[in-house]
Amino acid sequence: MSDPLVVPERVLRSRTSAKWQQFEPDVLPLWVAEMDCDLAPGVAAAIHAVIDRGDTGYAAGETLQNAHRAFAAQTWGWEPEGAELVPNVMLGVVSLLRTLLRPGAPVFTANPIYPPLVEYPRAAGFDVRQLADGIEELDAQWQKLTGDFPRAAYLLCNPQNPTGQVHSAAELEALGEVARRHGVVIIVDEIHAPLSYVPFTPVIPQIPEAFALQSASKAFNLVGLNVALLLRGPQAPPVRRAPELISAVSHVAEIAHSAAYGQTQWLADLLAALRVRREIVARFLARELPQVGFATPDATYLAWLDFSAMTTASGEPVTARRLVAEAKVALSSGRPFGRPGFLRLNFATSEEILLEALERIAAAVR
Ligand SMILES: Cc1ncc(COP(=O)(O)O)c(C=O)c1O
Repeated sequence: MSDPLVVPERVLRSRTSAKWQQFEPDVLPLWVAEMDCDLAPGVAAAIHAVIDRGDTGYAAGETLQNAHRAFAAQTWGWEPEGAELVPNVMLGVVSLLRTLLRPGAPVFTANPIYPPLVEYPRAAGFDVRQLADGIEELDAQWQKLTGDFPRAAYLLCNPQNPTGQVHSAAELEALGEVARRHGVVIIVDEIHAPLSYVPFTPVIPQIPEAFALQSASKAFNLVGLNVALLLRGPQAPPVRRAPELISAVSHVAEIAHSAAYGQTQWLADLLAALRVRREIVARFLARELPQVGFATPDATYLAWLDFSAMTTASGEPVTARRLVAEAKVALSSGRPFGRPGFLRLNFATSEEILLEALERIAAAVR
């Protein structure tokens, strides 16, 4: 088994994307959701072949839909039909809300949650409300919906960023039942689905009225070559495709993602390596930082850490900014996710970098 997460630090520091560029060279960056891996060999070969052919025109055909269907069948025993390509997940979510809902309609989501799932719909003029977890809470809130808007939407992130929680088939079924009763459309961001350590249940077979968005971009580290699939359940409301999004789909991304969905051995190796990193984080915290709240994630390479019971050595609350200054480690602040006091650590890196970062954090807090 090969470990895709052993790229030398010298190579990582030469990368020009956000993760390794945002901070000074003495900082270890475990923040934004990029992985410290090389491309899967089949993906690199496909992109090289694009360049050799000069194949940089418009997207065409169903290559990516077919590759995704084969991957979904093999991975989850589900064959999605009628997927449409969108330039990325978040543009897909916002365009879907625009075609399904009236301007200003309520859009519900969880707390904590990936910040753009709140910020982008809000910027598009929807009334975004973050609710506590739990089906009873959703039922109670949705009961209060007035007749002003014929439809509302619920944005679920499954697996959840930042907690790494994976919702079970039974939970999805219960959600579908309550949403149906209150006229709420379910839209699920399933971008992290291939990175699940437990069995993952796609939403559409459980809730046939739902929509889902998937992409190979997180699991295969392809955000710089972005594309996503918008999946419509067989009983979901009809939607008008936003024409400006169709021509915005990158053909090169389509080729790269089609190749990625065939790289199942690479993905298995990646998941094995991520399990090792997840275990390193869990053991280190239990031994050295037992006051930090942590629940082992079911999916993703993100650890959601509750530092609210601790301070830095200088007596300050443990914030992302203070850890950069005092530990020379960059984590993501919990504040935009809805939880100040929490920090999100990206463990998709080498064992050496991960341990060094954890040791620096332990030395800087009490
Ligand atoms: C839950 C979630 N959704 C969406 C995205 C971004 O996806 P895209 O770049 O395809 O909009 C991310 C990126 O980290 C994410 O974690």
